[in-house]
Amino acid sequence: MPAGAGMADGGPFERSLRYTGPMHGHEPLSDELQQILAAAWSALEHGAADPRDDLHWPVLASVTVARDPGPDARTVVLRACVPAERRVDVHSDVGTGKIAQIRAMPRVCLVGHRRDARTQLRLWGDATIHHGDALAADAWQRLAPHSRANYRSEKDFALIRVVVDRLDWLLVDPGAHRRAAFDWRDGTLNAHWLDA
Ligand SMILES: Cc1cc2nc3c(=O)[nH]c(=O)nc-3n(C[C@H](O)[C@H](O)[C@H](O)COP(=O)(O)O)c2cc1C
Repeated sequence: MPAGAGMADGGPFERSLRYTGPMHGHEPLSDELQQILAAAWSALEHGAADPRDDLHWPVLASVTVARDPGPDARTVVLRACVPAERRVDVHSDVGTGKIAQIRAMPRVCLVGHRRDARTQLRLWGDATIHHGDALAADAWQRLAPHSRANYRSEKDFALIRVVVDRLDWLLVDPGAHRRAAFDWRDGTLNAHWLDA
């Protein structure tokens, strides 16, 4: 069990430490959790840059609140990841259902996995739609011609920007699955080991 493991604090499956960040004078994040988090962001950065990487093709889940309320999900391309800002970018046609869903309910989840590393990453956050603004124009400018071809024109192009406030890392190991949760929603990082 990693250093700092101990009291259950959030339910029957939770154990281990709560990190509130050195700036606040609390215990520092354990080295192992720190490494896992850094590796997760690095894997996402790599995934955004390389179409051969499984993480280039995550599933984006959102919620429908109109007519037929419930979950929805679809495969997307991970276009950018900026760990320092805890943000990931996805592109879409502005006319798609996901855009309307996100406008009505910005809460989304992205899930991807790397088969070779047997790891799954789940990211939760609030998404913002950029359409016809400077950020969308910048993303469009940097888009390769074959990607632009997915859109009738720049008018249809939208940038979905997600600021991640929760990240779940899972290692699917035949011996023992390992799972860690990172959560920034308190305005500071809370890290936990999770069972299962
Ligand atoms: C491999 C693959 C990559 C895709 N990438 C994107 C993408 O980056 N953005 C997007 O809007 N749709 C993408 N799609 C299509 C979506 O999965 C989905 O079918 C479409 O966007 C409509 O979804 P919605 O009605 O839920 O918005 C991709 C589909 C596949 C199979």
